[in-house]
Amino acid sequence: MEQSKGRRLVLFPFPFQGHINPMLELANILHSKGFSIAIIYTNFNSLNPSTLNPHFTYHSIPVDLTENEVSIKDLIVFVSVLNAKCVEPFRECLAGLLSDDVNLEGTIACLITDLLFDFTRSVAESFKLPRMMLRTGGAASFVVYSAIPLLKEKGYLPISNSRLEEPVTELSPIKVKDLPTIPNCDPEDFYQLITNTTNESKASYGLIFNTFEDLEGHGLATIRQEYYPNIPIFPIGPFHKCSLATSSSSSSLLAQDQSCISWLNTQAPKSVAYVSFGSLAKIDQAQFLEIAWGLANSGQSFLWVVRPELVEESDWLEVLPNGFLETLNKRAHIVKWAPQKKVLAHPAVGVFWTHCGWNSTLESISEGVPMICMPCFSDQMVDARFVSDVWKVGLQLEHGIERGEVERIIRRLMVEKEGEEFKERALKLKEKANLCLKEGGSSYKSLDGLVKHILSL
Ligand code: UDX
Repeated sequence: MEQSKGRRLVLFPFPFQGHINPMLELANILHSKGFSIAIIYTNFNSLNPSTLNPHFTYHSIPVDLTENEVSIKDLIVFVSVLNAKCVEPFRECLAGLLSDDVNLEGTIACLITDLLFDFTRSVAESFKLPRMMLRTGGAASFVVYSAIPLLKEKGYLPISNSRLEEPVTELSPIKVKDLPTIPNCDPEDFYQLITNTTNESKASYGLIFNTFEDLEGHGLATIRQEYYPNIPIFPIGPFHKCSLATSSSSSSLLAQDQSCISWLNTQAPKSVAYVSFGSLAKIDQAQFLEIAWGLANSGQSFLWVVRPELVEESDWLEVLPNGFLETLNKRAHIVKWAPQKKVLAHPAVGVFWTHCGWNSTLESISEGVPMICMPCFSDQMVDARFVSDVWKVGLQLEHGIERGEVERIIRRLMVEKEGEEFKERALKLKEKANLCLKEGGSSYKSLDGLVKHILSL
C-alpha cells in the first residue's frame, strides 16, 4: 500500500452509462490501493464531478459533436466519430497532466482506457505512457468477440436467419442467434469495430475485467491461452462490491428516483419483479404494451424503469391505456431511472427482468436475484445464454415479447415451485461473488497482482 502512494493513474471512461459506471468503480478500487486518480471525461454525456469521489481530479475535454452527430442512430458510426473527435483534445489534456506530473503530482504510472477508445494507443505511445484497457463487458462475450474472424471463416457470420437455432459448436453453449449484432448498423462495420478493439487490446500492457474466476473461469482461461497469451489479464470483479465500501458517489447520468426504495419498503419480501433494460436499448410501442399487460396479468407487484427514450416515438407512458396504472392499485411503480444497485439489494425484489447488459447481469448475480432475460444487442445475447444455460439463474424470453409468455415466465420464477431452484442457485452464485473479494479469494489476489503490475511498469 504505502509504496504506491503518490503514483498517479489516468482513467478515461467511454461516455455511455454502462461503461462509465465500471470505470469509476475501478477508479475507486485503485484509489483505495493508494493510487491518486485523474479522470479525463468528454463533454458529451458529461460527468458531474460534484457527485463523484472528491479525492480524484477531473478533466473535461471538449469534443465538438454536431447535433447531427449526436443523433446518429448507427452506434458504430457514432463510436468512430467520437474516437476521431477525441484524439486532439485528449492528447492536449494528457500533455497537460504529464507536465503537472513533472512539476507537482509525481509520475503517471499508467493510462487506463475503455476498450472502445481504440485511438488511445497511438496517443499513449507518443508519450511513452503504458496503457491498460478496461473491458466493461464479460469474459464469455469477449471470447465470442475475439472469435469473430473464425466465426466469419466458418460461415456463422454474417448471421443467416435460417440458422438461428443452430449451435455454434466451437463456442458451446452459444447458438447462432446469440452472436453479436447491433440494430441499425451494417454488420460488417460492427465486426470490423470489434476486431479493431480486440486487436488494439493485444497491444496494451494488460486487460482488466469486471468479472470473477468462479463465474467465468472457462472464458478467462480461453482468453489467456488462445487469444491473449502475452497480455496479463486481471479479473477483479464484481467492481461495485469492492468499491461500495470506498465511496458513496454516484456516476449516474440520469437522476435516480429514490421513491423506488420507499415503495419497495411497503412490499413483501421477494414479491416484486424489477424491470429495466439499461441505458441504450429501445422497444417499439407494441412491445411496450405486451410488457405492460404481461406484468399486469402476472398478478405480481412490479417496479418498472421506463427511460424517456425507451419506447420509440413516445415521450414516456402515454401509450398505456387510460386508467391502466389505477386499476393495478399500487401494485405497480414506474420511474424514469432507478438507483438500480440499491433496488437489487432490496429484500422485496424477487426477480429482475433485464436486457442482460453486463453491469445489470453482474449486479443481479451479486445480489442473488434470478433473472428474466430479454437481450437486445451486442454482448447481451451471450450474457443471457450464460444466465439461462450455464449458471441456470434465469430464463430467457426466447420467442419475442408476448403478454401470455411474459405472464408465464414471471409466474414460473416467482410463484411456482420451480422458482425455488432458481433462487437457490442464484444465492449460491452470490456467495461465490462475495467470497472472491475476501482475502485469499480470486479477485482479491488478482487485484494484488494488478497493483504490483502497475507499479512495475
Ligand atoms: C451497455 C451495453 O448495453 C451492455 O451490453 C454492455 O455490457 C455495457 O454497455 P447498458 O445497456 O446501459 O450498457 O446496460 P448495463 O451494462 O446493464 O449498464 C447499465 C448501468 O446503469 C448499470 O450499472 C445499472 O446499475 C445502471 N442503471 C440502470 C441505473 O443506475 N438505473 C436504472 O434505472 C437502470
